[in-house]
Amino acid sequence: MTEICREKPTTDTLARLYRDAGWLEDPETLDLKKSIENTSVWILAKEAKVVVGIARLQTDYVRYCCVYDLIIRSDRRREGIGRKIMNEALAFCEENRVQVMHLWPTKGNAGYYTQFGFQALGPDQPTMMKATPQPT
Ligand SMILES: CC(C)(COP(=O)(O)OP(=O)(O)OC[C@H]1O[C@@H](n2cnc3c(N)ncnc32)[C@H](O)[C@@H]1OP(=O)(O)O)[C@@H](O)C(=O)NCCC(=O)NCCS
Repeated sequence: MTEICREKPTTDTLARLYRDAGWLEDPETLDLKKSIENTSVWILAKEAKVVVGIARLQTDYVRYCCVYDLIIRSDRRREGIGRKIMNEALAFCEENRVQVMHLWPTKGNAGYYTQFGFQALGPDQPTMMKATPQPT
């Protein structure tokens, strides 16, 4: 039984999921506590209190909501857990009447989001990024 809840993860849980996804080799070097505290909404998928999936929303509760870090534990993918988390994100935006949702799919996963109504903006509106130099 998978329970979907809007609740903050622990730093250990977030680090474990980042490492499992291969996104960060050394997540403990980041201030994950600060990152967790400053996120608008966390969505967790839990089974017997163990977190098997996660996503975070950054939102102004009016205009925009951006979905980040949708990660399903690698041994539990393709079982509908990601869909449950995305449906919770959609429900959050409907409840709050947030006008627009955005997300930035990882390579090969853009097609995943069309089932939830997301569309690519097109080549003339690419996602843009700039990494900020970090102190060593
Ligand atoms: C991408 C990810 C979040 C999908 O979550 P998931 O729980 O494995 O997927 P679901 O079980 O909810 O899939 C629901 C449906 O989408 C389909 N689907 C899954 N991944 C897909 C993909 N990359 N492209 C298109 N369809 C996909 C499934 O086949 C399923 O279809 P079905 O109902 O007809 O069987 C998960 O694979 C993951 O955590 N990947 C690693 C981290 C990552 O890259 N996250 C995305 C960040 S943008």
